[in-house]
Amino acid sequence: MPTIDRRALLAAGLGLFAAGTATAAPSPTLKQAAASKGRRFGSAFAFGTRGADAGTFANPDYAALLRRECAVLVPENEMKWQAIRPAADRFDFARFDAMVAWAHVNGFAIRGHTLFWAYSRWFPEWLTTHDFGHRPAIAAAAILTDHIDTVTARYGQRIDSYDVVNEAVDPDTGQLRQTALSHAMGGTEPVLDHAFRTARAAAPHAELVYNDYMSWEDRNQHHRAGVLTLLEGFRKRGVPVDTLGVQSHIGLFAPTTDAGALARRLEPGWREFLDAVVAMGYRLLVTELDVRDKGLPVAIGPRDRGVADFARAYLDIMLSYPALGDVIAWGMSDRYSWLRTFEPRPDGAPARGCAYDNAFRPKPLRSAMLGALTNAASRRRPR
Ligand code: G3I
Repeated sequence: MPTIDRRALLAAGLGLFAAGTATAAPSPTLKQAAASKGRRFGSAFAFGTRGADAGTFANPDYAALLRRECAVLVPENEMKWQAIRPAADRFDFARFDAMVAWAHVNGFAIRGHTLFWAYSRWFPEWLTTHDFGHRPAIAAAAILTDHIDTVTARYGQRIDSYDVVNEAVDPDTGQLRQTALSHAMGGTEPVLDHAFRTARAAAPHAELVYNDYMSWEDRNQHHRAGVLTLLEGFRKRGVPVDTLGVQSHIGLFAPTTDAGALARRLEPGWREFLDAVVAMGYRLLVTELDVRDKGLPVAIGPRDRGVADFARAYLDIMLSYPALGDVIAWGMSDRYSWLRTFEPRPDGAPARGCAYDNAFRPKPLRSAMLGALTNAASRRRPR
């Protein structure tokens, strides 16, 4: 990867010599359990400067945790347009280069998240207000092509799986979201199809994923239906999509002390959805696993138990599908989880949705993940 700059390699070196002081992970590790069934276990991670108290490779404790438990890493934010494309004609790869270099030197596989987040809320400001000129469809397609070609060429074989499109379906209506690009290109479908076709041509080695957060909770019916319609459309139009990325930010929202009972009630509807996806020939990934614990009691014992029971039931279903590949957590420690700021509990207690606690001690959720990965159906390898 000759284009990665020297700053990136320097930054990557930080983690190489960091011993780490976190509590040792129990054996077997999550990556070992996943590998025994032909899968990869992994996590999101972040950029950071040396010694940062953040979920980054530059934090020795966090880096040690990643090394022990994970085989594959995903940038939580640093490959998004907001991070790498400050203007239509400018890219900035400094942070993501450092992450890729560190991951590569330390033997991790890397997933790319995301080549296109199809949701205006997360567009960079310049893209929303961009003037696409007299031939808007051509100009918009060119911006997308340039983005996908530039990223995939830079990282080559180091990234073997991409969330090509993220969150194109409006969860409330099941319809495709409209964006500045869809207005310019005459609809959302042409944008998404173009993204996948460009990615296939530019990175023929890579798994191409449509990634979304339709989930198994009751309020997700429209979202699930919309995703199924989108996936059917891809097949009808011959769009090269390999896999559905099931984000898996699962949640207990209503007050409960019996997460297992709720999981049993949700299972039939969720299997119906997954069966329909697999019947269309898609593979599955768990791309962003964590548990929103708002409905559980604040006391740590029952809360951690509820989180673990809910996740175990969920993962047992997901892992019963031989079409399921990677299982990826959206961060390994509560200390750095997005849930703490984005999904605060009504009582203000910090969320506990990750496998390790604030002090990097393993929680019941880790045992639940391990149990599910160990008892899983073996993965059916793609042809
Ligand atoms: O890095 C800046 C920092 O410089 C600044 O001081 C600070 C002030 O707000 O913001 C920091 O950026 C934040 C970034 O996270 C890094 O912490 C952004 O504001 C914040 O919007 C961003 O949130 C991320 C969110 O996606 C939006 O990109 C979350 O960390 C990240 O966990 C979340 O991840 C998404 C997946 O990409 C898609 N699926 C859902 C998932 C959870 O929402």
